Amino acid sequence: MTGKFITLEGIDGAGKSTHVQYVRDLVATRSGAGAIMTREPGGTPLGERLRELLLHEPMAPATEALLMFAVRREHLEAVIWPALGRGDWVICDRFTDATVAYQGGGRGIPLARLAALEAWTHPGFQPDLTLLFDVPVEVGAVRLARHGGLDKFEREQAEFHRRVRAAYLARAAADPQRFRIIDGTQPVEAVRAELRRVIEAL
Ligand code: TMP
Repeated sequence: MTGKFITLEGIDGAGKSTHVQYVRDLVATRSGAGAIMTREPGGTPLGERLRELLLHEPMAPATEALLMFAVRREHLEAVIWPALGRGDWVICDRFTDATVAYQGGGRGIPLARLAALEAWTHPGFQPDLTLLFDVPVEVGAVRLARHGGLDKFEREQAEFHRRVRAAYLARAAADPQRFRIIDGTQPVEAVRAELRRVIEAL
C-alpha cells in the first residue's frame, strides 16, 4: 500500500465535521495523489444502512460494538484498502479509536474484548495519522444544542461524553507517534493553520 490513511476523531461537538473537508482538500493539493473522504459508521451502501440503525435504534452494547466492527470490515475491503492500494490517500471521519472511546469508554465494554475484535478486523493495520479534536465536554454540548436533531450518542449524558473523551485521550497517550491532539476550542483559522502544519509534515 502506498497511499496514506488519515482519521479524524473526537467527542460529539468537538468540531471534526467542520474540518474534514478542509483536510481532504489540503491532502488533495499537497500530496500529489488522489484523496477520498469517507466516514464511519458508513462508507459503503451496506454500512450506510447499518449507520441508520446504529445511530437511532436502541441495542445492547455488545451488539453495537460488533456492528461497528462489521461495518468497518466491509468499509476496509470495499473502499479503504483498494484506495490505498491504488496510491490514493484516504481521509476517514472516525475509525477504530471511536469504538474504543464510545463502546469501550462510554458503554463500558472491556478494552481487551475490543482489542481482540480490532486484531481480527484489521490485523496489523492502523491509520498513518489520527487527528484528535479535543474540547471539554461542556463546549461540545453547547455546539450540539445549536444543531438539534440529535442521534442516540449525542443525546447521552455529560458523564458518558466525559468517559468517551478520557478514553480518547488515553488511547492518544498510548500511541503519541500516530496521534496529533488538536485543541478544538481555538478559532477555525487557528485550527486550520495547525492542520496545515501537521499535513505538510506528513
Ligand atoms: P458522527 O456524528 O461523527 O458521524 O459519528 C456518529 C456517531 O457514532 C458518533 O456519535 C460516534 C458514534 N460511533 C461509535 O459510537 N462507535 C464507532 O465505532 C464509530 C465509528 C462511531
